[in-house]
Amino acid sequence: MVQSGDLISVTSHCLADTEEIGSLISDLVVAGDVIELRGELGVGKTAFARGLARGLGIDVNVASPTFLISRRYLGRLTLLHCDLYRLSGRFEVEMLGIDEEIEDGAVALLEWGEIAEGSLGSDGLVVRLHRSGTSEDEREISFELGQDWAPRRSELASVADRRS
Ligand SMILES: Nc1ncnc2c1ncn2[C@@H]1O[C@H](COP(=O)(O)OP(=O)(O)OP(=O)(O)O)[C@@H](O)[C@H]1O
Ligand SMILES: [Mg+2]
Repeated sequence: MVQSGDLISVTSHCLADTEEIGSLISDLVVAGDVIELRGELGVGKTAFARGLARGLGIDVNVASPTFLISRRYLGRLTLLHCDLYRLSGRFEVEMLGIDEEIEDGAVALLEWGEIAEGSLGSDGLVVRLHRSGTSEDEREISFELGQDWAPRRSELASVADRRS
């Protein structure tokens, strides 16, 4: 685990690792959270989302919502899993009505969250996935904590510790 400033990062060695890390993070999630998943095509954003969903007790196979843009799942909390890839910017994102869902206590998990341009929960958690190392399957997963997550920093750091 690496910690510098507000960044915490952890290495995933395979798909199952990324799912497991997502699942461990789910323990820290509360109603109304916004979590952005950033990283290039095919890096593992949906894999992380699937793990997080499982951790919330959602056992359907969470897949990419690309063609639907957004899917809602019911577990310990309501999870709204969105893929903003096809949207052109914050105005199209705002038309999805995610804000209202968050106000009603849903957790928003946004692939390509950068397309929302901070219009939703800029104080949430940003999860960045990068290909790293020499192995095809290695990913560095880093967490940038907004204000809402600052009180959960040590818990998140201990999750990262457990994985390294
Ligand atoms: N460490 C890893 N973590 C996650 N996925 C991995 C890892 N190593 C290999 N993979 C593979 O990378 C792919 C990740 O696919 P996934 O759909 O999760 O990516 P994505 O970032 O959501 O893609 P998109 O940008 O199309 O939404 C899968 O084929 C998975 O098997
Ligand atoms: Mg995806």
